Amino acid sequence: MLPKSPQDHVTPASAAQPTADPLSPPSPWARSAAGANTFDHAAGTVLPTIYERTTAAAIAHEAVNLGQGFPDREGPEWLRQAAAQALTDPAVGPSNQYAPGLGLPVLREAVTEDHLRRTGISLDPSSEVMITTGATEAIAASILAFASPGSQVLTFEPHYDSYGSMAALAGAELVGVPLSGPEFHPDMDALEAAVTERTSMLLLNTPHNPTGTVFTEQELRRAVGIARRHGLVIMCDEVYEQLVLEADQQHRSILSISGAAEVAVAIGSAGKSFSLTGWKIGWLCGSAELVNRIRGVKQFLTFSSGPGFQWAVAQGLQDDRGFFAENAASLAAARDLLHSGLHSAGLRPNRAASGYFLLADISEATDLDDVAFCRLLAEEVGVAAIPVSSLIIQHRSDQRSADAPDPLRRLVRFAFCKRLSSLEEGIDRMVSRLPKVL
Ligand SMILES: Cc1ncc(COP(=O)(O)O)c(C=O)c1O
Repeated sequence: MLPKSPQDHVTPASAAQPTADPLSPPSPWARSAAGANTFDHAAGTVLPTIYERTTAAAIAHEAVNLGQGFPDREGPEWLRQAAAQALTDPAVGPSNQYAPGLGLPVLREAVTEDHLRRTGISLDPSSEVMITTGATEAIAASILAFASPGSQVLTFEPHYDSYGSMAALAGAELVGVPLSGPEFHPDMDALEAAVTERTSMLLLNTPHNPTGTVFTEQELRRAVGIARRHGLVIMCDEVYEQLVLEADQQHRSILSISGAAEVAVAIGSAGKSFSLTGWKIGWLCGSAELVNRIRGVKQFLTFSSGPGFQWAVAQGLQDDRGFFAENAASLAAARDLLHSGLHSAGLRPNRAASGYFLLADISEATDLDDVAFCRLLAEEVGVAAIPVSSLIIQHRSDQRSADAPDPLRRLVRFAFCKRLSSLEEGIDRMVSRLPKVL
């Protein structure tokens, strides 16, 4: 079965009505915030994201910031110079006026060539690639395009927080299928069992934030099979595609799976690929039909983003000058350092195969939950990290916890995309101070 058309998702009366559940506030702004656990129920106001709150706590307590996932080294200088030249030299770069809605042709072609080189997928740059304002906009536009009001959207949790916010804004319900340590590979049987008549989308993320799991070809095949059988659209967030840290693992794009073309779109990010997170250039690839439908939303979110940055990213994708391999090698060294440091501090980290993060299991070290542990870590130890419960569907986890403690509430996310000196300082503090305060 191919993706359902919008009229296939009939809004149940209950979903359209304001609900008495305080965790599902009826106003769109409050729903959007609550969907990402940033609605302050007591005050009725919106909190900054968990990443911003953690960075603020790090500054307030002079803590080493291993919370927010931004690299503390700038991306390649030659690429930044290319952007500067693009902005200032009309003989080289594009005009500084609006870029086309689908993005600069040179960048769409570079994304197409990059996909062909790495994944063997052949895309038409004129209709199957759309440049977006960061992956964030591609995620928002995809979810708003296909998550009908009253439908359910499935994802694995923990998950990137914008999924919950956008699903809630669309009037849909995000349903999480938990990933379990220490491997955090997805349980595809559980995913299929969670599909209901109301399900409209699968939100996948490989390589996965925050577990670092690189989904296997077999897992992606299963996902495509589920989507085709049940008429679902897959949004596959692949922003960490260039950050696989294990030689024996390889990123597989959802689009390389046979049968994916009718049901799936894949999303990339120049910010993640080139350590230039502030540039906010992303892309979305898929069949002309799906890209066209998502364009219906995207072109009224930002329309288009900075042409100079788009042009520079195209240069980087055409020839990365060895940056991708170098960056992955230095991230792997940072991951190894933090992994052994967390062990020495009495925590049980996973060995993330990709991305920027390690998840540490705190259950052997303390009875505290992840939120209390992170507060203590920032205030008493001087290290900031992210409680994984902020990346799950909290009210449903509360219900689960009533029966048995939710293991996802005993995990803490540490970013290793930081200078080795910052990691060493963080490790020293945890090894020397944690035993005294726990
Ligand atoms: C899984 C995931 N998707 C999307 C994004 C956002 O990407 P961008 O900065 O390109 O909007 C992030 C950023 O942390 C992420 O971790």
